[in-house]
Amino acid sequence: MGATLTAEQIRDVNTRYHDVAAAEYDAKWAISFGELGQAQVRAKLRKALGSAPGRYAHSLEIGAGTGYFSLNMLAGGVIARATCTDISPGMLDTLRANARSLGLAAETVVADAERLPFDDCSFDLVFGHAVLHHIPHLERAFGELYRVLAPGGTLLFAGEPSRVGDSLARIPKRAATLAAPLWRALIRAQPAPPPPHHEHAHGDLEGVVDVHAFAPGELCALARDIGFEDVRVSGEELVANWFGWANRTLEASAERTQIPWLWREYAYRGYRALQTLDGALLEGRLPAAIFYNLMISARRRARS
Ligand SMILES: C[S@@+](CC[C@H](N)C(=O)[O-])C[C@H]1O[C@@H](n2cnc3c(N)ncnc32)[C@H](O)[C@@H]1O
Repeated sequence: MGATLTAEQIRDVNTRYHDVAAAEYDAKWAISFGELGQAQVRAKLRKALGSAPGRYAHSLEIGAGTGYFSLNMLAGGVIARATCTDISPGMLDTLRANARSLGLAAETVVADAERLPFDDCSFDLVFGHAVLHHIPHLERAFGELYRVLAPGGTLLFAGEPSRVGDSLARIPKRAATLAAPLWRALIRAQPAPPPPHHEHAHGDLEGVVDVHAFAPGELCALARDIGFEDVRVSGEELVANWFGWANRTLEASAERTQIPWLWREYAYRGYRALQTLDGALLEGRLPAAIFYNLMISARRRARS
C-alpha cells in the first residue's frame, strides 16, 4: 500500500498518524518507564551489541516517539545526554511530558531521519527502536546517521520487523481469529463494538505507515554500503511473539471491559515467560530471519 505513495506522502501520513497516536501510545503498547522498562531496554541493547552497553556521553535517537528507549537509557545511566528526534511533534510533546514526570532532561527536535539538522560527528551513539521500517529512503537516512556519528561511535537499531517473522506471525493471528467466537463464549464476553469512524480511519493508516519489513542481509548491506564496520544483525522474539499476537487478536475481538483480569494476568505472565524461553533457548541458535524483530549494531571506523 505504502508503495503507491510518494516519499513525501509517506512522511506526511507518518506525522499525522503518530500525532494522533501520541496521547494513548504508552498505554496501548504497555510502555514502562520504571524498573521494568529500564531492564527491557538494557536487555535489547545487550542483545544488539553482543555485550553489555557502555556509557555514552551524547546520544541521538531517531523516531524517539514518547521516549521508551532514550528516557529508560537516561534513567539507567547508559547515556549522559540525550537528543531525541521524531517526525511527529505530537510524539515529542508526550516525550517531554514523560521526561518532566520522571525528572529527566532530554532535548527534543522535530526532524525527518533523512535530513538531520546536526553537525557532522556530533554524537557517540546514534540509535532507534521500531523506526527504520517507516522511512522511505533508507540509504539517505543511513548516510545521515553515518555523518552525525563521531568516528568510533556506535550505531544501533532494534525492533525492526523481519519479513519471514512477520509472515510466520500471520499463522497465530489467523488461528486466533477463527477461535475468537469460542473464546468469547468461554469467557462470557460480547463481541467488540465496531470502532468509531475516526478510529477506523486511523487503523487503516497502519498499512500505510509501515513501508518495509527486512531480511537480515538487507539491514547488513545498508550499514556496510555506507561505510559502517563490525556490523552485527540478530533476531529476537519467536514463540513469545506468536503467543502475544494470538492473545491480542482474541482480546481485540471482545468487549474490553468483559475480559477477565485472570485472563490478562495469564496473557502477560505467559508472554514474559516465553520471552525468557526465546532468549535462553532460541535466540542466537536459530537464524535471525525467522524471529519477529531484527536488531542491528555497527561502528563508525575510528580515525587512524
Ligand atoms: C513505532 S513508533 C516507535 C516510537 C519509539 N521509538 C518506541 O519504540 O516507542 C515509530 C516512530 O517513528 C517516527 N517516524 C516515522 N517516520 C519517521 C521519519 N521519516 N523520520 C523520523 N521519525 C519518523 C514516528 O513518528 C514514530 O514516533
